[in-house]
Amino acid sequence: KKYNVAVVGATGLVGQMMCRVLEERNFPVDHFYPMASARSAGKEIEFAGKTYTVEETTPESFDKDIDLAIFSAGGGTSKKFAPEAAKRGVIVVDNSSCWRMDPDVPLVVPEVNPEDLKWHHNIIANPNCSTIQAMLPLKAVYDKYGIERIVYSTYQAVSGAGVQGFRDLKDGVNGVPPKKFPYPIAYNILPHIDDFLENGYTKEEMKMVNETHKILHDDNIRITATTARVPVFYGHSESINVELKKPFESVKELQDCMGSFQNVILRDDPEHNIYPMPIEAEGHDEVYVGRIRRDFSIDNGFNFWCVGDNIRKGAASNAIQIAESLVEQDLVHDQYQG
Ligand code: A2P
Repeated sequence: KKYNVAVVGATGLVGQMMCRVLEERNFPVDHFYPMASARSAGKEIEFAGKTYTVEETTPESFDKDIDLAIFSAGGGTSKKFAPEAAKRGVIVVDNSSCWRMDPDVPLVVPEVNPEDLKWHHNIIANPNCSTIQAMLPLKAVYDKYGIERIVYSTYQAVSGAGVQGFRDLKDGVNGVPPKKFPYPIAYNILPHIDDFLENGYTKEEMKMVNETHKILHDDNIRITATTARVPVFYGHSESINVELKKPFESVKELQDCMGSFQNVILRDDPEHNIYPMPIEAEGHDEVYVGRIRRDFSIDNGFNFWCVGDNIRKGAASNAIQIAESLVEQDLVHDQYQG
C-alpha cells in the first residue's frame, strides 16, 4: 500500500531533511504534497525524481486526500493547522513542541515506546531533539536497573535553530552580527536555548525534564537539565549523569546494556581516543554513546557522553520512523476524537 504524504514546512532545514529521509528510506509515498508559508508558495522542489510546486498551508489544504502530514513549520503553524488536518482525518506527525505534553497526544521515540502510537487521535508529537537521542541509551538502562535521577548537560548545534541559526554561525565567523541568537555564536557558547521561564530554567531544559517523564511513563525520576548552544553546525552532544536504582557490576556491563540497544552505536575506547563526536554522528540516524564511567561520588551512578544528528534522529528521521511504525502497526487510520 502507498500513502499520500504532505510535508508542512518543506522548505525549512528540518522539512527538507524530512523529504530526503522519506526518499532514502523508500517510504511508500503515492502523492506528495510539499507545503510551507505564502512566502514559498510556487517554489519548486524535487522529490523522488519529480518536480513539485510548494503550496501555501491553509485549513483547506487538508481537504485533499492526504493520509499523513509531517509538520516542521514552528509551533504557531502546528497549533493552527494540526487540528485542522486532524479533524479532516489526516494523521499528523508534528515536530514542534506545541502538542508534546498534551495528554491526548502520544510522544514517541519508535525504538522506545512505539506502543503509544496505538492510542493516537490523529496527532502524534515528535520529541525535542536532545530528548530523543538521550532516550535510546537511557531506556536500555531504565529497563535493566531502574533510574532514580538524571542530570542532563547539552552542547547543541546551531542547526537546531533553523536556517537562520545556521547562518548566524556561518556568517558570524566573519564578524556579521547575529540575527537569530541574542549574542554571537561564533567563538562563543550561549547557556540559553528557547525562552527563560519563571523558575530560572529555559523552555528547552524543561522540555527535557517533562518529555523524559512522558516517554518513559515515569514521573518519579528526578531530572535536571542545562542546555547550551555551541558553535557546531550539526550534531548535539550531551553529558548525562545517571543514578540507577540497582547496582551495576562494571562499566563493561553498562557498555553491553546500552551498546546492544537498537540504533545505538558504542564508541567507547578512551585508550585509543575513541569517543562520540558530532562530526562522526552527522549524516547518520544512530545515536553514539561513549565515555561511560562510574560516578564515584554516589552509589549506583555513572556518566556518559551521547551524540546524535539533531536534524536527522533529533527531528526528521525520528518523524519518518514514527510514520513507518504507524504503517507497521496498521495505525494510519482516522482515530479522531475531537
Ligand atoms: P517558508 O519557507 O515559506 O518560510 P526553518 O525552521 O528552517 O527556518 O523552517 C521553517 C519552515 O516553516 C519553513 O518551511 C517555513 O516556510 C515554514 N513556515 C513558517 N511559517 C509558516 C506558516 N505560517 N505556514 C506554513 N509554513 C510555515
